[in-house]
Amino acid sequence: MPWHISTVVCHNRLIVQLNKLKLVNYRNYENFEGNFDHLKTIIIGQNAQGKTNILEAINILATAQSDRAEKDSDLVLWNKEHALIFAMIQTKDSELEIALQINPSGRRKLKINDVTKKAPQADLLGNFFSVMFSCDDLYLIKGSPSNRRNWLDSVIFQLDSKYHRTMQSYQKSVTQKNALLKSTRETGLSKKSLKEQIEVWNDQIINSGSEIISTRLNFIEEIKPIAKEFQDNISRYTEELDLIYKCTISACNDKEALQFLFKQSLEKSFEEELSRGQSVIGPHRDDLTFLINGKEAKSFASQGQQRSIVLAVKLAELKVIEKRKDEIPVLLLDDVFAELDESRQDFLLHNLPENIQTFLTTTHISNIQKEFLKGAQILEIKNGKVTEMAKCV
Ligand SMILES: Nc1ncnc2c1ncn2[C@@H]1O[C@H](COP(=O)(O)OP(=O)(O)OP(=O)(O)O)[C@@H](O)[C@H]1O
Ligand SMILES: [Mg+2]
Repeated sequence: MPWHISTVVCHNRLIVQLNKLKLVNYRNYENFEGNFDHLKTIIIGQNAQGKTNILEAINILATAQSDRAEKDSDLVLWNKEHALIFAMIQTKDSELEIALQINPSGRRKLKINDVTKKAPQADLLGNFFSVMFSCDDLYLIKGSPSNRRNWLDSVIFQLDSKYHRTMQSYQKSVTQKNALLKSTRETGLSKKSLKEQIEVWNDQIINSGSEIISTRLNFIEEIKPIAKEFQDNISRYTEELDLIYKCTISACNDKEALQFLFKQSLEKSFEEELSRGQSVIGPHRDDLTFLINGKEAKSFASQGQQRSIVLAVKLAELKVIEKRKDEIPVLLLDDVFAELDESRQDFLLHNLPENIQTFLTTTHISNIQKEFLKGAQILEIKNGKVTEMAKCV
């Protein structure tokens, strides 16, 4: 279907990246259609009406994953065969029509400009970039290691398309190795032959796992000084931020040394892995620590300080994507204004690139600063339907 791409229209309507979004049988939307030709889109609605669902769908276009859905079936409207996300995207050098079909089985289908793609997950990445900042992001500090790994991965997926393939092959090897470790009791395999079979998987785990660790380490080295500077400015130089990658092996940035250390750690933990029936060494068990003035933020920072860290990290994430991809990501602000005090709201608004396309959800328009409302398009959502649309308030 030919979708019109709008270009420069008026002084507060500049070129937008995401021109159009259509959702069919996605979460609580049987049919949603949004045309965006303003830099700011505000999505208003009571709780549980479908505001976050829209941002989540946009974020999937950039990261190929949802940070709140456990499986793809969660994304499909109950009892429907599949969900569809259609988008018209204007990148700096091309126009893309993306159609992503999500099936409850987990198998996805992707068409870009009507061409069916062979690897729907990996081929989706790198076309469109987004930074999602939500009130749940305090989990980055307070949550479990998997929350932090998911965040790391979702940013790196956008930056480096190879990383997604490496991650898939790593996860496959870990799953196979775990199945083997678990099955030893039933198969009665001798320790010697089990060790030989495990080594085959370990070689693959070492290969892809080392690549994952060094990509993550490089990313942390890149984002750290930027996040640190934002944190310095938010806290007026009273809170020094540090980020440390906590690796289950002694991580280092030399490829051969890393592979050697990885092998050594796996050999050492063979007995433990055998008795636990699962793989305990590798990037799937790694973590990230945020420190404030040398102390772990998870246990020492106040709620307000934790919010500042998340704000600094999110702004830094935006900068890193912009720098690496030479494209400003779309910003998705999910209910953050109710969480941030006035000074942090100001800090956010004054540290965003001028022409950034932003989608913002809220339950009450009064939560949003007047300055931000200028020139915004407003969608009102009620029970998965757009009930009102106002522009240029
Ligand atoms: N697969 C699905 N099929 C149908 N409905 C779903 C599905 N997944 C989620 N929902 C519904 O979507 C709604 C939640 O949408 P969403 O999280 O976008 O709400 P919200 O407007 O952001 O609310 P809040 O202000 O509380 O954050 C809930 O009513 C939930 O039951
Ligand atoms: Mg929500």
